[in-house]
Formats: sequence, structure tokens, C-alpha cells
Amino acid sequence: MLAALDEAGLPDPAVRARQRPGELSGGMRQRALIASAVVARPPLLVADEPTTALDATVAARVLGLLGNLRDAGTAVVLVTHDLGAVARVADRVVVLRDGRVVEEGPTARVLGAPREEYTRELVAAARLGEGPGAVPEPGVPVLEGRGLRRVFALPGGESVTAVDGLDVTVRAGEAVGLVGESGSGKTTLARLLLAADTPDAGEVLLDGMPWSALPERDRRALRSGIRLVPQDPLGTVDPRLTVRAVLRAALATGPRPPARADRDAAAAALLARVHLPTEVLDRRPRTLSGGQRQRVAIARALASDPRVLLLDEPVSALDVQVQAAILDLLVELRRDTGVAMVLVSHDLGVVRRVCDRVLVMSGGRVVEQGTVPDVFGAPAHPVTRDLLAARAV
Ligand SMILES: Nc1ncnc2c1ncn2[C@@H]1O[C@H](COP(=O)(O)OP(=O)(O)OP(=O)(O)O)[C@@H](O)[C@H]1O
Ligand SMILES: [Mg+2]
Repeated sequence: MLAALDEAGLPDPAVRARQRPGELSGGMRQRALIASAVVARPPLLVADEPTTALDATVAARVLGLLGNLRDAGTAVVLVTHDLGAVARVADRVVVLRDGRVVEEGPTARVLGAPREEYTRELVAAARLGEGPGAVPEPGVPVLEGRGLRRVFALPGGESVTAVDGLDVTVRAGEAVGLVGESGSGKTTLARLLLAADTPDAGEVLLDGMPWSALPERDRRALRSGIRLVPQDPLGTVDPRLTVRAVLRAALATGPRPPARADRDAAAAALLARVHLPTEVLDRRPRTLSGGQRQRVAIARALASDPRVLLLDEPVSALDVQVQAAILDLLVELRRDTGVAMVLVSHDLGVVRRVCDRVLVMSGGRVVEQGTVPDVFGAPAHPVTRDLLAARAV
């Protein structure tokens, strides 16, 4: 019985087993109840909103327990409004509305490509609804853009001001979302922050020190501190290279590169951090799935232990299920490494999931900014409202 309490995620099971239900918190009571239901390994378990009272970590544990029961042959009926829980546990899903079945099918299909309007709404709402949870307190500014301006000449003598007098500050451990319509200047800004491009006015500071103003020769030694995950992951990688070669090269760029003999182990550790098995080391990136490739791209960017990670549309090429897994990974990496993130996305759900703060861009300027709940809860600028409305469909 103690084992069942432990499996259900109840801390100090030996102590808790001797308490009365009224002496437990709601979440603990829930877990004790789950333990009592699974202890006899029944052939069928009906779990009605089993994780609603639980925090994310414990909820994940309970869902893991339900998954184990299912794998051991127990049929599980999971009643829930939490589509994340459905995705983790269920093989099949039945969507109910007003007592009727709206849609039914394999989980991956129903959540990945819902056929009915109502299911689509549920999926969209679920993805907008969830934030990153507990994240590190933001620290000192690590990356600052001041009065940034970038003008591009167009054919025929015209020009376009892609970034037009823009200020941005990113603090240690913070995740800042950069959203805006296509052409609003997001990628240009990301490239300026990375010092892959030079501003026509203004400057970028890294750790409070000149960054964009330095000659590239002097920047090279500092580049390990700021990395970009480009929109086309590994598009810039030689297709003949294996993942091992890509990661070994990336590891060599850090401030304290591991000895050559240790780089395979370090590369395998990087893969583990993005939840890929060691076997992937000997694959070529093009033979991997889109999601695996994005994980390799993130591992590569993390190899030099950067303090800032710039991610340009990190999940837009991936299908919904894979997107969710990559976003979970980003949230986990934030928590575990404290790396600050600048996340460029046209998808507000993506920003909502990962970021604390958001900057809305239009015509090269920031038209609205604030915390994610404030901006998404009460959008003030028409551009923000349009972006939010577009997301609902
Ligand atoms: N190298 C360049 N030469 C000329 N114009 C450019 C260049 N790079 C960007 N631009 C122009 O600057 C503007 C902003 O482009 P940018 O790529 O920053 O937009 P974006 O917000 O990233 O858009 P998307 O969401 O489509 O990726 C656009 O008008 C674009 O055509
Ligand atoms: Mg872009």
C-alpha cells in the first residue's frame, strides 16, 4: 500500500498513511484516492479529472502512473478537460459537448488535426491557456538594444526601415517573446541582437558591455555566450556531417571546451538534455524527423553554455504534437539552466507557453509590450488584437 501511495506521488507515504483524509491538503487527498484505486490493479479504472487539484509536477507523475497501469493491461477511462493529460495517457479520445459525441478517434489525429470546429476550439484554447509555470526570477540585464535602427535599400532606390528606433532589454533567466506580422522586423531585430548584422543607429550591449560596436575579431571570443537557433534548423549544416560531428564542433566553441577525448561523452550528454537517445549521434540530421532535428539544433546552441538563446520561429515548421513537446523542452531548459530566451514567433500560443514578457512589433517598432498575461488578457493595440484573433481560428 505504501508503494501505491509513493507511486501516486504522495510525499512521506509512511506518515501520510496514518493521517485522516481531512488532515491532507486537497491535492494529497486526491493522490491518496488514486493510490486506493490502483492498489488492487483493477481491470478497468475510471479516473474523473484525476489531476485537476495537482501542480504540474505531481500531475505528470499521476499521469505516468495511469500510463503504467495501461501498459500493464488495465483499461483506463480518463475524464478530463486537460488535453495535455489526454495526449500523455489516451490512445483514443471522445470529445463530448452537451451530452453528445462531437468527435472520436485516435488521440494523435483528433488533437493534431481536429475535424470539428468545437474540437479545434478546445485545442486552440488549451495551447493558449498554459504558461511556463514557476520560472527563475529575472536578474540583471544580459542583452540590451538601445535605439536600434536598420534600413535596407530596396531595388529602384527605395528603402525599408526594418527596425525603427527600438529599445529592448532581456534580463538573466527571462524569456521574451517577439511577435508581429510578417515583415514587421522580428528576424532583423534578432540578427542585430546576435550581432550577425550591424545597426545603422543605436547599439547592442551584452552583459552591459559593448557588443554590436566591437569588431568581429573581438566578438568571436564572446559569441559562446549568445546563440541562435535559426528558423530552418540545421539548414546551414553540411549534410554529410553526422550529429556527432556537429555537436563536437559546437562543443569546441565554448569558453572551456571539453578535451577532445571527452567530447563524445559531452555530445551524448547534450542529446540527453534534449531527450534524444545516444544512437542519434551517428545519424545525419537530414535523416531525422523535424522534431528530432529541432532538438539537435537546440542541443547545438546549448553546447557552449550560452546565457542567451535566440530562437527564430522554433516550432512553426512542426505539427502540433511535436510543437508541444519542443515547447515543453524549452520551458524545462529555462528552469534547469537559467538560460535567457528571446523567442520570435508569429504564434501567440507559443509565446504564451514559454515567455514571461512579450514585445509586439509592427513596422519595425514596438507597439505594445508587457507581461504575457497583461498583453494577452487586455491587448491595447489593434495589431495585438488582430494577432490574437487570428490565433483563435
Ligand atoms: N537583407 C535584406 N535586404 C533588404 N530588405 C530586407 C533584408 N532583410 C529584411 N528586409 C526587409 O525588412 C523588413 C523586415 O523583415 P524581417 O525579416 O525582419 O521580418 P519578420 O518580422 O521576421 O517577418 P517574417 O514573420 O515574415 O519572418 C521586410 O520588409 C524585409 O523585406
Ligand atoms: Mg522572420
